[in-house]
Amino acid sequence: MAVSAFGRYPTTRLRRTRHTDWSRKLVRETSLSVTDLIWPIILKDGTGVREPVASLPGVHRLSVDEAVIVAKEAAALGIPALALFPYTDANQRAADARLATDPENLMCRAARAIKAEVPEIGLMADVALDPYTDHGHDGIIIDDEIHNDRTIEVLVEQAVIEAAAGFDIVAPSDMMDGRIGAIRHGLEAAGFHNTQIMSYAAKYASALYGPYRDAIGSKGVLKGDKRTYQMDPGNSDEALREIAFDLEEGADSVMVKPAGFYLDIIRRAKDAFAAPTFAFQVSGEYAMIVAAGAQGWIDEDAAMFESIAVIKRAGADGIITYFAPEIARRLSKPTG
Ligand code: PBG
Repeated sequence: MAVSAFGRYPTTRLRRTRHTDWSRKLVRETSLSVTDLIWPIILKDGTGVREPVASLPGVHRLSVDEAVIVAKEAAALGIPALALFPYTDANQRAADARLATDPENLMCRAARAIKAEVPEIGLMADVALDPYTDHGHDGIIIDDEIHNDRTIEVLVEQAVIEAAAGFDIVAPSDMMDGRIGAIRHGLEAAGFHNTQIMSYAAKYASALYGPYRDAIGSKGVLKGDKRTYQMDPGNSDEALREIAFDLEEGADSVMVKPAGFYLDIIRRAKDAFAAPTFAFQVSGEYAMIVAAGAQGWIDEDAAMFESIAVIKRAGADGIITYFAPEIARRLSKPTG
């Protein structure tokens, strides 16, 4: 609608509806709910482990028993789903990422334990080889190349053992071409026709993943960068092509990652496809807000809420964020 249709000052004063708190609430176009949140959890071997991640203040690596406790907390808060990621020691990593396809790996053990005690919570599995490779890349290297098609074979196996362990959503975060179709086919063939695929469809080669790589043990391990498979930050049309392919290949939902620097991509994706669209507020986004807050340079609480609210406004149906428990706790208080 043309702006003139609403009239001009002083007949129209946009400040009228901003004048009071109740009115601001009434005219707010988007608001956050606990049901918008997915809580990322970093797993670690052992029992009773709750190990702080230095570059992600407030985030801990958790052993399976501790992850079960957190899952109960999440369910009590009304958070719909958890996204699990594994820390892997350098001595357990290998060029062929063999732990990725081991049904007794940390991810699968955690899924079984959580589903046994908190069956109502949604569980999302990372499908990617970088936690398991000794070079930290998301693929199998053949002749110095992250080999697309060989990697897909391993990803299919990984997704199927994750579905068998009880994960409800498998979420490929690797950016190989064609992996969604291959995984969908593999899941159908194995009888997992209800397992969802959330594709990390538009995932950028971003500088904001540092704290995550620290958290999963990839920090000192990764050689080079991921620009031969993750997207160039300058591209936007290409994101739509990635998303179109993934939906065609059988993704139930798609993701844009990172989130806050890529709000335009979220909006274009939602407008173009009207599919369930998620955004990952990644580790570096979280770390920047927490670090500036700790210095007293910004109001951490306000920045936290604002950072999530704008992702929703841009068109995301749900947000994966390390702030999930904090936001859920705050939203459940009557004053909101
Ligand atoms: C890779 C992967 C990454 C994240 C999750 N899975 C990034 C990367 O190393 O390329 C990042 C999540 C975050 O930063 O919070 N499979």
